[in-house]
Amino acid sequence: MNDGSTNGQIARPMLFLPLAIRGLTLKNRLVVPPMVHYRCDPGNTCGTFHTVHLGRYALGGFGLVFVEATGVEEVGLINEHDLGIWNDAQMESFKPLIAFMKRQGAAIGIQLAHGGRKASSQTAMQGMGPLTEENLKSGAKVWQPVGPTAEPVAKGWLVPRQLTTAECKAMVGTWAAAARRAVGAGFDTIEIHAAHGYLLASFLSPVSNTRDDAYGGDRAGRMRLPLEIAEAVRREMPASMPLFLRLSAVDGTQEGWNMDDTIIFARELKARGVDVIDCSSGGISGAATAMQVPRSLGFQVPFAGRVRKEADIPTMAVGLILEAQQAETILQKGQADLIAIGRQSQFNPNIAHHWAHDLGINQRFEDWTPEYGWWLEKRIRTMEGFATPTGEVTRRA
Ligand SMILES: Cc1cc2nc3c(=O)[nH]c(=O)nc-3n(C[C@H](O)[C@H](O)[C@H](O)COP(=O)(O)O)c2cc1C
Repeated sequence: MNDGSTNGQIARPMLFLPLAIRGLTLKNRLVVPPMVHYRCDPGNTCGTFHTVHLGRYALGGFGLVFVEATGVEEVGLINEHDLGIWNDAQMESFKPLIAFMKRQGAAIGIQLAHGGRKASSQTAMQGMGPLTEENLKSGAKVWQPVGPTAEPVAKGWLVPRQLTTAECKAMVGTWAAAARRAVGAGFDTIEIHAAHGYLLASFLSPVSNTRDDAYGGDRAGRMRLPLEIAEAVRREMPASMPLFLRLSAVDGTQEGWNMDDTIIFARELKARGVDVIDCSSGGISGAATAMQVPRSLGFQVPFAGRVRKEADIPTMAVGLILEAQQAETILQKGQADLIAIGRQSQFNPNIAHHWAHDLGINQRFEDWTPEYGWWLEKRIRTMEGFATPTGEVTRRA
């Protein structure tokens, strides 16, 4: 058993202790959250870009890396260049990436997603809003999205087609089929995307779900589709495989989904075999980046803390977590079990290794892939007197 000590000297930081969830043991608590990059290969398949892009995070020391929001059906693609997992060719396309990640000792998950009313929208670089005339003129693909109602996200967005009750029932099967393929591809874990105003979030929120059938109405009705999907996805997964769900803990609007709703939802998810709640926020109306929840250092961490405590389920914290000690403190205080680092990992794909240094372990690059670690360790002696082991110059003359 790991007692958290290294050679009886410094206590190993919690960030770098392994974590077992069902049959999966992560080597540390650092996670790359799903991040879309609009770089699929033809047919919404996974190609070299994703192997290189996500492979950097495996080499960079992360315990778990998520593949970006991946469409469970074509109409649910947020953007035409997103990855999909609704056919066998797409399933097969993930296998080289998965094999690489596993060889590096990183676990790999996939976020299953359906864009709902926000399908067929702009890339982040175009503004993350509805497609404009200019986008269409330059060849952007447009199609009619689906949603809980025929109300658009906001003025100027595409008018969705309302899913019938029978189509909601069929949607459960669509997600189950995607989960079956994710298992078949060899992923270690699956995350259900129920955040940021996309399909499942739009069923949860009273702002967007004004249906009057079994999939709308009171909170139980609005939770019905996401809960049926969680149950169906769980059924497709081996008992040893963990299931994550990302939610928007709050819409950020007064009349919207709130923290009390989230606690009740999390308890229901736990009862259906969801293992980790990934706590994000916002996005119910307008672009996913719309400033509805004020953003500051670690602004979503309190959501993860409350869910963990009040729903008694492991959580993942995400959002402006920038420094090793900040992340370590979140774990020490029991606010989360896992730490996801989004943009700061784009800035520095080796950040997991760097944070180990910052927290006083891995000083001789022991945890780096040996083709890097061997050289970096040898360099320490060469640089003695003028630079630190990580290459910070201390004497220039
Ligand atoms: C380039 C980019 C793409 C993103 N794509 C997704 C996505 O596919 N699914 C999702 O749930 N969140 C997505 N997000 C949100 C991130 O997962 C994360 O929650 C957010 O960036 C906040 O964390 P950070 O401050 O560490 O970046 C994306 C963020 C970025 C920067």
